[in-house]
Amino acid sequence: MKQFIKILFLFVTCSTFAQPRLKTFKPGEIWPDNNGVHINAHGGGFLYYNETYYWFGEHKISGELGNRAMVGIHAYSSKDLYNWKDEGIVLKMHEDTISMFQKGCTLERPKVVYNKKNKKFVMWFHHELKGQSYQSALAGIAVSDYVTGPFKYITSFRLHPNSLPTNFSTEQLENAELVDNVKDEKNKQKIIGGAYFKRDYEMGQMSRDMTIFVDEDDTAYHITASEENQTLLISKLSDDYLSLTKEFIRIFPGGRNEAPAIFKKGNHYFMFTSDLTGWKPNPARLAVSKSIMGEWEFVGNPCRGDREEKNNTFWSQSTFVIPVYGKKDAFIFAADRWRPENPIDGSYVWLPIKFKNNLPFLEWKDSWNLSIFKK
Ligand code: GAL
Repeated sequence: MKQFIKILFLFVTCSTFAQPRLKTFKPGEIWPDNNGVHINAHGGGFLYYNETYYWFGEHKISGELGNRAMVGIHAYSSKDLYNWKDEGIVLKMHEDTISMFQKGCTLERPKVVYNKKNKKFVMWFHHELKGQSYQSALAGIAVSDYVTGPFKYITSFRLHPNSLPTNFSTEQLENAELVDNVKDEKNKQKIIGGAYFKRDYEMGQMSRDMTIFVDEDDTAYHITASEENQTLLISKLSDDYLSLTKEFIRIFPGGRNEAPAIFKKGNHYFMFTSDLTGWKPNPARLAVSKSIMGEWEFVGNPCRGDREEKNNTFWSQSTFVIPVYGKKDAFIFAADRWRPENPIDGSYVWLPIKFKNNLPFLEWKDSWNLSIFKK
């Protein structure tokens, strides 16, 4: 009898407090985790490992201070993409005020990849040193033996000091003319010609909004907004994913792209980006290429809908494209709806990627589920 009462008690408490199972995505709305708390993982990156999805993102706090890294990187896990279990803070900011990785610096857009050879989880992120606004423009790395951490901060750096991309010659470097004002339209041609690339040649190139893409052959690439956010750089990672190789390209010089998110379908790579308007939304862009290190081409705004929706990417900015496992050609566009005045209120806009004539496009949905994708 005692045992029966115990079981009954457990059943009643569990069913009272358990979160209802979610069966749909509701873009832009509060998204409760297993504890009923709105998911706190902004600028997120996703990893599928051991038949489980992992979501890593910026943990924000309330108030404007929340735009700085006061806590660290938060992770969640899920079997079905709707219901997410809080796995806690997997990379903690250092308390020590001498550390480059101290509380109050800026840590954005973490992306975790799993290296099959050395069995390490490697996190790449955008790192700005405390008190330097966005001027440090560093790429940072942290590593863990376990998917849910703890990750250990390793280093942060500028990219490719004293090195040239494969699509930019010594002659181009010599001929590049320096400029000191990114906003001056007259400087546009000089920026395209490598003005900022030349300025940063010795100290290394800037790295702000970034992502990591792992190709089918396990080669990984770092894609980042460089040259004062005017130009994207794509760099091949080393086999252990812990550094960049010397192989890199400069794409869309002077094109002003942020928030890169890449995926591959068939023989094509697709990349969503945004324009540069800080936390405010702007029209998304879609680029396509037959090779990651190849000739990328813009094919326009991927959003369909009314003017406002197209001009604001459904009030969001891309962060990642999630491949849905077990379904062919099923991809989710994952984006952030930022709330810089109270960053913890930021929400997530996830939309199914649809295709017409083999080109991806996005349409608003108040609510949707994975049955939208064919098997
Ligand atoms: C956005 C960028 C964010 C953050 C913000 C700061 O454009 O995508 O990651 O850096 O600017 O203003």
